[in-house]
Formats: sequence, C-alpha cells, structure tokens
Amino acid sequence: MQTQQAFTQQETNPLASIEQWEDDVLLRYPEPTHKAKEAYRNYDSPERDTVREFYRLNHRYQTFDFVQEKEGEFLKFDKKEMPVWNAMEFLNTLVDDSDPDTDLDQLQHLLQTAEAIRADGHPDWFVLTGFLHDMGKVLCLFGEPQWAVVGDTFPVGCAHSDKIVYPEYFRANPDSYDERYNTKYGVYSHHCGLKNVHMSWGHDEYLYQITKNYLPEPALYMIRYHSFYSQHREKAYDHLLDDHDRAMFPWVDKFNPYDLYSKSPKPPVVSELKPYYEDLIAKYLPATVRL
Ligand SMILES: [Fe+2]
Ligand SMILES: [Fe+2]
Repeated sequence: MQTQQAFTQQETNPLASIEQWEDDVLLRYPEPTHKAKEAYRNYDSPERDTVREFYRLNHRYQTFDFVQEKEGEFLKFDKKEMPVWNAMEFLNTLVDDSDPDTDLDQLQHLLQTAEAIRADGHPDWFVLTGFLHDMGKVLCLFGEPQWAVVGDTFPVGCAHSDKIVYPEYFRANPDSYDERYNTKYGVYSHHCGLKNVHMSWGHDEYLYQITKNYLPEPALYMIRYHSFYSQHREKAYDHLLDDHDRAMFPWVDKFNPYDLYSKSPKPPVVSELKPYYEDLIAKYLPATVRL
C-alpha cells in the first residue's frame, strides 16, 4: 500500500465548488425534454476547463492502491460521531463563496431531491434515501481532495471503460500500465458481482458503508452507485454485474432523475421540513452515526 501523497491546493480543489461537477453532469445528461445546446465535448467555457482539470486529477490519482488507502483511512469511522441531522448541518457548512451561481446549498439540494420523491408517492425509505444520498460529501470537510469526494465513479482494479467521461486522462493513471489491473477483468471475474468490485473512492461508497446495516437493499444501491454513470447510463460494466446487481440497478435508474432534475419553483424551507425528516431518520437509522 502506498504512503499518503501530499497534494497542492490546486490539486486538492480544482473546482470553484463541488457543485460544478453536478452542473457539468447535467450538461452531459440533460433532461430528456431539454435539447443539449451543443455537443457536450464542444461546450466551451471557463467552467469547462475547470471541470476538465478536475477529471484529469480524478483519473490520474484514483488507482487501486489509492482506493485501498482511503478505505483503510475512512472505514474506521473514527473522525466524528453525531446525530444524522447534525451531520447534515455539518455538511451544510461546506459553502463556497467563490461560486456565486450556486443557488442551493447542500441541505437544500438534498431536501429538494427528497421532496420530489415524496411528491411522486414513493415509499418513505426512498424519500429518506433522497435526503441522505450526498451526506458522504462531508469527506470534503475532512480535507479530502474534491476528486476523491465527487465525480463519476468507476471500478478500479480492471480496465477503464472508454465510456467514462474523458477516458484519455486514464493514460496518466499508473494502473493503466499494471498488468494486474489493465485487462478487461483485472482482479475480478466474469459476472463476479459489484459487491466484489472496488469503486473509485468518493461520497457514494463512504455513505453506503455508513448506512449499509440500516436501509433496504434498493436504497443502498441508489446510494452506492448514484455517480456510476458509465454503468447506469452507458452499461459499460455489464460483464462484472451478477443477477442481484441486474435486479437492483433499475432502482439506481429510478433515483437518478430526482438527483439531476429536481427543481422546485421555490427553495425548500428547512425549518418546515425538519420534523418530517427527523421522524424518518429515527425510523430507520440509529440515534447517532459515526463518520
Ligand atoms: Fe451525489
Ligand atoms: Fe446529489
């Protein structure tokens, strides 16, 4: 296992704010009713350069060893312990002055997602999943680089699909030249199941590990794979999925539009919604969670 690398400020925070990644995903996968103005790759702006730099770092540094190192570091859950609602408020301290275009804070994005799920009459655990799904972004508050918190996730330990955004940046990833990791299956096997696959490290896997004993299986799939766009949008890793994954992925597909396209006409009012979500948290989760 490699020793921890030190990154410069520029390498840690290439984006003005982590929402820039999601804004960019929205350009890549616009709402079906909206036509993309131009082809995604041709869209030019200063934000686009920033996002490109973000992916360059993500694809360069997210190696099999890096993921093992982060799992070892964060799955001890020895950073903090607090009630879920407090963890959400902690997440909400992640505000970024340098991005004046960001109209919703983290908590509002989560409430908006959850409220859209609730309005469509889905089960309460699905609503709770909408509310929780980005809680893992607290990783940023522990000083983690943006590209190790957000960004499209992908399997490590096997060949990188060219369906992953900006695949050319994987040429700078040492795993691309490591015979253990650069074949179609790498350290995995045909239909081995995603439970055996290490994903690039970020807020999805982290929150999955925090909630895995408490939420229904479809909720856990939504949480764990919601940024795995090369699979849920592009089907690039069907060869690693087992029957259980195939049965569960429709839930990830069902969740994704709520994450990307929930836009309520007025921002959710946290104080009005808090009692409902506190009850929901109490129904499914322990009094405190360890981060
Ligand atoms: Fe997310
Ligand atoms: Fe989200």
